[in-house]
Amino acid sequence: MSDSPRNSIHGQWSSRWVFVFAATGSAVGLGNIWKFPYIAGENGGGAFVLVYLLCIAVVGLPVMIAEILLGRRGRQSPINTMASLSREEGRSPLWKLLGWSGVLAGFLILSYYSVIAGWALNYVLEMVNGTFTGTSAGQVQTVFDELLADPLKLTLWHTLFIIVTMIVVARGVRGGLEKAVMFLMPSLFVLLVILLAYAMNSGAFIEGLTFLFMPDFSALTREGVLTAMGHAFFTLSLGMGAIMIYGSYMRSQDSIARTAIMIVFADTMVALVAGMAIFPIVFANGLEPGAGPGLVFQTLPLAFGQMDGGLFFGTLFFILLFFAAWSSSISLIEPAVTWLVENRNMKRITASIICGIATWLLGMGTVLSFNLWSEVKWFDRTFFELLDFLTANIMLPLGGLFIAIFVGWSMSRKSKVAEMATKYLFAFNVWSFLLRYVTPLAVTVVFLQSTGLLAKLI
Ligand code: PFF
Repeated sequence: MSDSPRNSIHGQWSSRWVFVFAATGSAVGLGNIWKFPYIAGENGGGAFVLVYLLCIAVVGLPVMIAEILLGRRGRQSPINTMASLSREEGRSPLWKLLGWSGVLAGFLILSYYSVIAGWALNYVLEMVNGTFTGTSAGQVQTVFDELLADPLKLTLWHTLFIIVTMIVVARGVRGGLEKAVMFLMPSLFVLLVILLAYAMNSGAFIEGLTFLFMPDFSALTREGVLTAMGHAFFTLSLGMGAIMIYGSYMRSQDSIARTAIMIVFADTMVALVAGMAIFPIVFANGLEPGAGPGLVFQTLPLAFGQMDGGLFFGTLFFILLFFAAWSSSISLIEPAVTWLVENRNMKRITASIICGIATWLLGMGTVLSFNLWSEVKWFDRTFFELLDFLTANIMLPLGGLFIAIFVGWSMSRKSKVAEMATKYLFAFNVWSFLLRYVTPLAVTVVFLQSTGLLAKLI
């Protein structure tokens, strides 16, 4: 391939900052505020958080750089990007499968992501209605249980969320969302800091911090380690082409590495601040840190119910959580939509409608897994739990592993240096080393240990 930059047929971000905000919008979402605290709680806190942070640094950041690089070099949907880059590098056309698995993962994730985002929408309404003013932990629990027991209500919010997502996707990601994200993300962060201030005065701040940051390795199971690694991919939107497709709209002159560091830093800060706000509230109210997916929905309303201006802040918080989920969901389905546009010659709107209907249908499985199908299990997991496990713990790390192998081993150094356009050769070499050796080894070791195979081998 020539080293002159090519352009995406879908357009380009207008400035470097737009890419930073859009990619941060994709990364920061339910994963940071809803999922991170509850899986940290389920897996005993500190040791889990440590493994997660380690994975972010040695696996997440190098793969993020690799994924942006692939996207910008290919400038097409992830499937076509992998097809053309493997051709240019003289590699097997099978690399295209990496794009396909990403499209599938995005579609599967969005199907349940939308249901959870629906919970946030429902809580906006509950907040406005003052349901939680001066409430007790028991009442907050009841509100949550009643929501999950109501398939009709869940379906309604799920439907609404899919519709708003598809409206933005149909108009094109660069059509205005990025401007909203530039303002919404910082607002969400400010609200988290307000919650953090509240948590500091909750009487159990130190207890919360100890739980989150003091590693107790006896509390971490083999599967917990896998969940921590999987979450590093999930929270950074890696391993499925979302960051790749956003990278394909990135301007050629912008620095990939510097941008990736900013996104990873912002994402990690949001998760940690959310954790630091939530766990003190958990302990101050005698709640269970391992309560599961309902954790934020059972703790934060309690805090908002007690604080001055709680009605206002609570409403705003759930609105912002919804926006954070919205800006992530768009990137989940963007790889599928761009592929339909490129290869099936579809209009964006038709492609979006088709994807929307398909994800909506699959999402009904998650809706029902909280009520009518709560006893239906596959491998000891409900439909929702199975989808979550398959995507976050298996598909994304596998996708990330293959991205690392492709960029680390199958792409020529010349292409990489040309795309990175870096002056810092030392940093380039460190990244290259992490990607070639550390990332593949770490992912393989975590996979093996989670099956118990590693213990048998050594
Ligand atoms: N990173 C998002 C979150 O933390 O909520 C979820 C996500 C978005 C995962 C996009 C994967 C993805 F491609």
